[in-house]
Amino acid sequence: MYETINIPDNEECKSCTLTFAYNEISLLYEIAVMLASSADVTDTIEKGMRLLKRHNYLERCTLFMFNDDSTALEHFASIDLTAQQRRMATYRLGEGATGLAAQSAEPVVIENIHNDINYLNKMGTVNTKSISYVAVPILQDDGVIGVISANNLEKPILNFDDIVRMLTIVGSLFGGTLATLRKFTKEKEELTELKTYYKEQSLSEYKFESIIGKSTKMQQIFSMLETVSPSDATILVRGETGTGKELIATAVHNLSNRKNGPLIKLNCAAISETLLESELFGHEKGAFTDAKEMRKGRFELADGGTLFLDEIGDITASLQVKLLRILQEQSFERVGGSKTVKTNVRLVAATNRNLEKMVKDGEFREDLYYRLNVIPVNLPPLRERFEDVKLLTEHYLQKFMKEHKKKMHLTKEALEILLNYPWPGNIRELQNTMERIVLICPDGDIFPQMLNHVLPFNYQKMYAEDKSDPVEEQVVHTPQTTVPVHSTPMLTKSSLQEMEKESIIQALIDNRGIQTKAAAQLGMSARQIGYKIRKYEIDL
Ligand SMILES: Nc1ncnc2c1ncn2[C@@H]1O[C@H](COP(=O)(O)OP(=O)(O)OP(=O)(O)O)[C@@H](O)[C@H]1O
Ligand SMILES: [Mg+2]
Repeated sequence: MYETINIPDNEECKSCTLTFAYNEISLLYEIAVMLASSADVTDTIEKGMRLLKRHNYLERCTLFMFNDDSTALEHFASIDLTAQQRRMATYRLGEGATGLAAQSAEPVVIENIHNDINYLNKMGTVNTKSISYVAVPILQDDGVIGVISANNLEKPILNFDDIVRMLTIVGSLFGGTLATLRKFTKEKEELTELKTYYKEQSLSEYKFESIIGKSTKMQQIFSMLETVSPSDATILVRGETGTGKELIATAVHNLSNRKNGPLIKLNCAAISETLLESELFGHEKGAFTDAKEMRKGRFELADGGTLFLDEIGDITASLQVKLLRILQEQSFERVGGSKTVKTNVRLVAATNRNLEKMVKDGEFREDLYYRLNVIPVNLPPLRERFEDVKLLTEHYLQKFMKEHKKKMHLTKEALEILLNYPWPGNIRELQNTMERIVLICPDGDIFPQMLNHVLPFNYQKMYAEDKSDPVEEQVVHTPQTTVPVHSTPMLTKSSLQEMEKESIIQALIDNRGIQTKAAAQLGMSARQIGYKIRKYEIDL
């Protein structure tokens, strides 16, 4: 493709100059192509150096890269060096010509290596026929990342300016490739770490056994899930906010044959319709203004695993059609694309909306409803799982005591209050309440009055009034202790609602009207509190 030529010194030879320039460009082009197409960067860089040597440009080319803390330049690739010389080839910042080039970010030229103190001869070059040494820094966006150097023969075909220019170009090709590779490797490592982290988290925190529930209703659900989880059947989890729908979805995945595949989650109520469509199905490059790159959607990412779609009752009619198709055919097109993508996904959906009523009102497609409702799982609210409240209270007390390094004990009376509270925010509310108790109360016994700040004011007032009524209270006397039974205040639907309204108002006051914060305090979702605010016509 090109020939080695010797350019006569100081001679005005237009055609020679052109041939020379052409050869140089061809050589650089060949190196660039090699770098772009090979997986082994070190090997390719050394091949490029050999090519430069073969065409008499440079010899003993060496590439140094900074160590992790950028204090020293370490040998990365070279030609003509023995293993021993490679080991010696390390320079601190400012040390020798190589270190100086890195420190000053300027090329350093040593015309005669035999009489220059900046030439340290660490690599034992003095005994060879080379006479000069050039070290050029490799610059990237955030400064010097390495140095490329070469020894030059007695009569090099290039003058020093040209050698510097050549090393600068080759150095930036090598450095650019290396920087991209390092960035890619780092990102890959981070992703692997993240994947391991999420895998461990999902397996440890959400193991089926870690779902607390001794009540008959929960036991029935567990045994049903053990049977159906290994199949690919679609599961529809229903239940009030905080009843553990997401926890169940994770358990289904971990109990299935897909447990080593991905578990991808998406809350359909949290984003707008357009965004949701692209989140679900992905988009092609240029599908809309911000679609700069092709992006896979959750259905594609969950291939071989499980997709959990939360708040499924909130998707629009047009997305319902698309979802129906994917459930029927396991295939779809990315937004803005025409290529059909196949996916193998097990779907677990959840909602706390009344889908049957929505179907009746024409708000939810009946065919989709039947496709989703293959295995219905109805999680009971906590107030219907009285036995579980005690277990959960104990569980979270222990958990938060450990987390906050505290030692405390619930008195019978305080426990009784917690057992009788109706927990409108279900387990999430109980969890938040227990953490607040552990944080607020001092070490030692927890007495009922200490719960004043953690339970809605209205409930305690009502509870106290009810307890003071001697007719309502029946007491069972046992030899050891006096345990009030049937101490539950008579909670009617309207009193419960009134209490809930009061709690919401109080939480909004506590959080200066910030709905998300008030929702978190009550263990509700933001959507949930918004709904309740409208339902109870609370003025903001
Ligand atoms: N049976 C259980 N045992 C232990 N912890 C539970 C149980 N059920 C739920 N939780 C915990 O309660 C919290 C709420 O659960 P989850 O997010 O699964 O509820 P959800 O039904 O999805 O609520 P929402 O409808 O508001 O999204 C989580 O922190 C979860 O770990
Ligand atoms: Mg949820």
